[in-house]
Amino acid sequence: MSSTSVSMTVNGKSVTKEVPARTLLVSFLRDHLGLTGTHVGCDTSQCGACNVHIDGKCVKSCTVLAAQADGASVTTIEGLAKGDQLHPMQAAFKEHHALQCGFCTPGMIMTGVALANEKSNPSETEIREYLEGNFCRCTGYHNIVKAIETGAKAMRR
Ligand code: FES
Ligand code: FES
Repeated sequence: MSSTSVSMTVNGKSVTKEVPARTLLVSFLRDHLGLTGTHVGCDTSQCGACNVHIDGKCVKSCTVLAAQADGASVTTIEGLAKGDQLHPMQAAFKEHHALQCGFCTPGMIMTGVALANEKSNPSETEIREYLEGNFCRCTGYHNIVKAIETGAKAMRR
């Protein structure tokens, strides 16, 4: 199996690893860097549990080879909080009880932050449309939408 050297910045830290060329970004993060907050819910590019930011854009990390992110800056759910201080979007999910089992939550939060960065005051309809690629089997989405609305507002401050 051919291997390749991959270098990127993950949550502000430079990393370089020799990995099999076919390694997906989500496996690179979880298995090679131990960043298991990024989840694998489907492996078929549908659920969004694996969402991370690559150079500021929200991407399903199960759809990208680690080698394709070579040289990029990647942010995972672990990169949002500042020490003990939750990111405003994380705090909003907590405030609105926007999770039950929590499996989809990292991907939902990464999506919510990306939306708020693109659009500082998203409407409920815009939030629901933006969440099209994120599945939740527990909550019915209502509190997630409210949390993203609140989180986006808090990010504007
Ligand atoms: S694990 Fe990537 S979209 Fe579901
Ligand atoms: S909280 Fe369980 S899948 Fe969303």
